[in-house]
Amino acid sequence: MTAAANQVKQTPFDMIGGAPVVRQVVDRFYDLMDSERDYAALRAMHAEDLAPMRTSLSGFLIAWLGGPRDWFSEHPGVCVMSAHAKLAIDRESADQWVDAMRRAVTEAPIDSELGTRMMEALSGMAQGMVRRPASVG
Ligand code: HEM
Repeated sequence: MTAAANQVKQTPFDMIGGAPVVRQVVDRFYDLMDSERDYAALRAMHAEDLAPMRTSLSGFLIAWLGGPRDWFSEHPGVCVMSAHAKLAIDRESADQWVDAMRRAVTEAPIDSELGTRMMEALSGMAQGMVRRPASVG
């Protein structure tokens, strides 16, 4: 197989460096959420123990990026958008999620164009999860 053909088969998961880089991003994301006052509203929505979320979000992102799909076998029939419908996500908490994730992705050894594309997609998902838009006026 030629180098060009190999490149076509590369997934975003391969391009960012696989599971270790995804876990690095997710760990940094939850460390930021857990330690900075700017993310207090987002942190308050989560359980005290963030370890299960570190595992679950890593697994989801690994599958979402085109890597092993274990998360979907472990969560049969779960749609990540619907799973958030029960949460009172407003613009503030969605913006905090995107801001912390953007910082984590930017700090990781991920190609900046790929990081930008990832963040465009993740921002769209996060905005789509908003259930309580800020009131006008
Ligand atoms: C819009 C901002 C977001 C907020 C405020 C938010 C908040 C939360 C909270 C509070 C939980 C824990 C729910 C529980 O304990 O049952 C959670 C779980 C989770 N979130 Fe989000 N989330 C957001 C965006 C996202 C996005 C964009 C993704 C996907 C890229 C995502 C993926 C997940 C996953 C995979 C879980 C774990 C589900 C499980 O294992 O049951 N979240 N989220």
